[in-house]
Amino acid sequence: MTQVDDWQLTADVVRSFSNTPDQRLKHILTELVQSSHDFVRRTNLTFEEWNYAIDYLARTGHACTPARQEFVLLADVLGISMLVDAINHRERDGATPTTVLGPFYVGEHKLLPHGSNISSGVSGAPMFVRIRVADVSGKPIGHAIVDVWHADDDGLYDSQKASYPEEGPSLRARFAVDAQGCLSFRTILPCSYPIPTDGPVGELLDASARHPMRPAHVHFLVAAEGFEPLVTHVFIAGDKNLESDAVFGVKSELISHLEEHDESPMPDGSPANGPWYVLTYEFRMQPGNGTAPTPLPGTRRA
Ligand code: BEZ
Ligand code: FE
Repeated sequence: MTQVDDWQLTADVVRSFSNTPDQRLKHILTELVQSSHDFVRRTNLTFEEWNYAIDYLARTGHACTPARQEFVLLADVLGISMLVDAINHRERDGATPTTVLGPFYVGEHKLLPHGSNISSGVSGAPMFVRIRVADVSGKPIGHAIVDVWHADDDGLYDSQKASYPEEGPSLRARFAVDAQGCLSFRTILPCSYPIPTDGPVGELLDASARHPMRPAHVHFLVAAEGFEPLVTHVFIAGDKNLESDAVFGVKSELISHLEEHDESPMPDGSPANGPWYVLTYEFRMQPGNGTAPTPLPGTRRA
């Protein structure tokens, strides 16, 4: 035979997996072969493009380090991370929407008391955060653990700095809510920031004339026994990148309108030197099999 019937080729490759003992794996491999073969057919992929793609993926792998996951970033800018998140959280009537974890969650946050300032030594407008954690009916969850992290005024997370982890943590902490499901802390107003663009993902954004910005947000990971862990962000209303988040993570229910103040003193008793803000948000948790971290990592370190 001199001519490959490409439909026959697809069928042959699918059949080659017919003895895969794990039925879920067999299904995934079959779909992968069919979708990727269709992609090659629909795009009429040239050798030059194919070689570029192989080199691009190899460079994406080489850009990965223990502190950087370029493949996750690639999935993020292609919307795949949000799609996986969406199909795994379809039934969430009344629960707070989820969004991507992102690459800057480092785990093992230090447990801090309520009212702590997680931004000491960091420049920026003060922001007081008041959180309540409840079930979908609004009943407080008094045993929830809340991890929080966000970028500084230059758009950088502590974990992106050469001084990390020797210096820090900064703008990240863990809190245990009180019996009413509440917690509060002081930080700075976050700003919008670019995702890392010095690798293959930056090259993709450049080639497609896309900007790398994420709208200003604070990340939250809320865990409580008897509920699904909630990975989400709260976005700051008014940010000009809300409609064009580089990783497609914005959901309207996650946008918070801050209160702006200028009176002195501020809620923690310190004098105000300019405007300061209050972010108030209530998380509604979906019932599930989650557990709160035990023992609390922050208490192990203290
Ligand atoms: C973040 O918000 O930290 C983030 C999420 C996805 C990709 C890059 C950054
Ligand atoms: Fe972020």
